Amino acid sequence: MSSDARRADTSRAADRPPGVVVTRVEPLTADTRARVRALAAAVAERVGAPPLSEQTLLALGSADVAHWVATADGELVGYAQRADGVAEVAADIVDAGDARDVVVTAGAVVAADAGLSGDAVVADLLRAADADAVWAHGRRSPVAAVATALGYQRARELWQLRRPATAAPSLIPNPTITDRSPAALPAPLPSPAPVPPAAPDPAPTPVPPGVVIRPFRVGVDEPAWLALNAAAFAAHPEQGRWTMTDLLARENAAWFDPAGFLLAWRDAAPTPPADDAGDFRRHAEAPAEPASQSSTAPELLGFHWTKRHEDGRGEVYVIGVSPSAQGMGLGGALLAAGLDQLTGREVLLYVEGDNNAALRLYERFGFTRHDVDIQLRR
Ligand SMILES: CC(C)(COP(=O)(O)OP(=O)(O)OC[C@H]1O[C@@H](n2cnc3c(N)ncnc32)[C@H](O)[C@@H]1OP(=O)(O)O)[C@@H](O)C(=O)NCCC(=O)NCCS
Repeated sequence: MSSDARRADTSRAADRPPGVVVTRVEPLTADTRARVRALAAAVAERVGAPPLSEQTLLALGSADVAHWVATADGELVGYAQRADGVAEVAADIVDAGDARDVVVTAGAVVAADAGLSGDAVVADLLRAADADAVWAHGRRSPVAAVATALGYQRARELWQLRRPATAAPSLIPNPTITDRSPAALPAPLPSPAPVPPAAPDPAPTPVPPGVVIRPFRVGVDEPAWLALNAAAFAAHPEQGRWTMTDLLARENAAWFDPAGFLLAWRDAAPTPPADDAGDFRRHAEAPAEPASQSSTAPELLGFHWTKRHEDGRGEVYVIGVSPSAQGMGLGGALLAAGLDQLTGREVLLYVEGDNNAALRLYERFGFTRHDVDIQLRR
């Protein structure tokens, strides 16, 4: 929590007097970027989900996206960013109905004292951003209702799944991801095609013979990974478009650890003995074979990039398998290899609500639904 966060008395009425000013700003100063991060952290704590995605936070200093700030008496009370026609909005205003003793930013204190309405600030920011689509992060986000009132409609769901870090994949019975019960989510989209139930106790997934799993090599593997990421996520509107800039931004992040970024290669490395071929962990721990020892060029078939959060949670950050190698068990082997490393509190991941192949895979490993992000379009 940022140092400019404090506790506020939220007893004022929620009528919205004039006083909020929405301004397009370019570029954001370092001070404003810090205040936006503090605002996002405060909202995340109160609402239970970060209002701004990692990509949006990484782009706070970018001139390639549009930025708006909402201020009251000079204090930051809200922020919006639009990139490729899609907006994300955060407003740190404690409405009269909220708990009186919550952690908020300095701007929220001013806003609460002035009796400002958080929904009104979100609406002002959305109108200013004038985006084709907007994300509402988490089921308690106020953005979905405000956007709906402005004419946006649900278009996409991004589910957050979780499981205990210590869970043994084959020991978790009766997974529930594909139970698309409406009670678990607010007003779901029209139901996609149902996924057949998974086997309750699946056999372990071996790494296919001739495939080795080894950590990402910084400064070497970037081009191959970008090409594979684009192929695996060709149909994905954001992930498949990652550039070298996007990748290097993550490599420069404090959390980045190449040891948790696993790549599966098909190369000329010796195929292990038959009784060893199914143990992906031994492959994962084996030292990387220098490319020069291969008689043919190694081919990158898949990856599992894990992330450790400061709070001890682990994340299946991105996982993908080449379209030519899908369906032969590599996704399961990569998922298991990464989960072996995530020994913290809990593991989370985000997945499109209609990605049946991925949902089936995660279900088999005991993940269940935790929250949902909704994209609304107009
Ligand atoms: C999701 C993905 C990583 C799975 O990798 P994979 O190597 O194909 O997976 P596996 O062969 O280990 O199979 C995993 C499960 O998915 C199932 N599956 C595969 N394709 C499927 C499909 N089109 N529909 C439903 N289930 C499917 C398999 O039957 C298997 O289930 P089972 O173990 O109960 O038999 C891969 O499909 C992929 O890269 N997709 C594109 C990128 C992506 O969506 N990544 C996940 C982002 S959250």
